[in-house]
Amino acid sequence: MTYAIIGSGNIGGAVARQFARKGIDVLIANRRGPTSLADLIKELGANVSAVPLKEALQADVIVLAVHFGDVAEVVKQITPKPGRIVVDATNAIEVPAYTPIDLGGRPSSAVVEEQLAGVRLVKAFNTLPAAVLAADPVQDGGRRVVFLAGNDVEANSEIAGLIERLGFSPITLGKLAEGGLLQQFGGPLVIQNLIKQG
Ligand SMILES: NC(=O)c1ccc[n+]([C@@H]2O[C@H](COP(=O)([O-])OP(=O)(O)OC[C@H]3O[C@@H](n4cnc5c(N)ncnc54)[C@H](OP(=O)(O)O)[C@@H]3O)[C@@H](O)[C@H]2O)c1
Repeated sequence: MTYAIIGSGNIGGAVARQFARKGIDVLIANRRGPTSLADLIKELGANVSAVPLKEALQADVIVLAVHFGDVAEVVKQITPKPGRIVVDATNAIEVPAYTPIDLGGRPSSAVVEEQLAGVRLVKAFNTLPAAVLAADPVQDGGRRVVFLAGNDVEANSEIAGLIERLGFSPITLGKLAEGGLLQQFGGPLVIQNLIKQG
């Protein structure tokens, strides 16, 4: 299983940090190219490799950590491959205003999924502030909760397994029309920093 993160900013960097913490190999790509990531790679160590976007998009599991307005440009370059999953960490907000984008009530990840021909999508890593997501998930004798939702039961299970390997406690909320709405920007689970005890 190969992993890549698209976007090396607040959320991409936070997720990369968790891969590094657990010694799991991951590729990371941004718009400016690998040389712009030299400092981050030096800090995070050998498990995190900066590569061109095209190379990162060959991974089995691709974490999407770009602004919603940049999603279309990235996902149109993602090709179908058996087993491939896109993990959508985006929130549908206008930047820099941080106002919600009107999607007519549709789950934002369903809008992303529509653009992914034949590739499964799981929504995760979008509910916590980046600094919290980047911190050690083991807290006060428990593990920080990461919510996930998606329309493919097997993909949800695979990503729940990854979230667990990264040291978090996954909570699967069901399909995008149900759980996706709960965890997306404006939903009740956003900025809920929960610790599962035990
Ligand atoms: N910040 C938070 O606390 C937070 C919390 C939850 C969810 N989110 C969501 O997470 C997503 C990322 O937010 P962020 O704060 O991490 O943003 P950010 O710090 O501005 O980082 C965005 C990253 O996307 C990359 N990017 C943009 N277009 C690209 C393209 N065409 N190809 C490859 N990479 C591209 C940028 O590359 P360059 O660096 O080369 O410009 C940058 O590394 C957003 O959808 C946001 O709503 C953010």
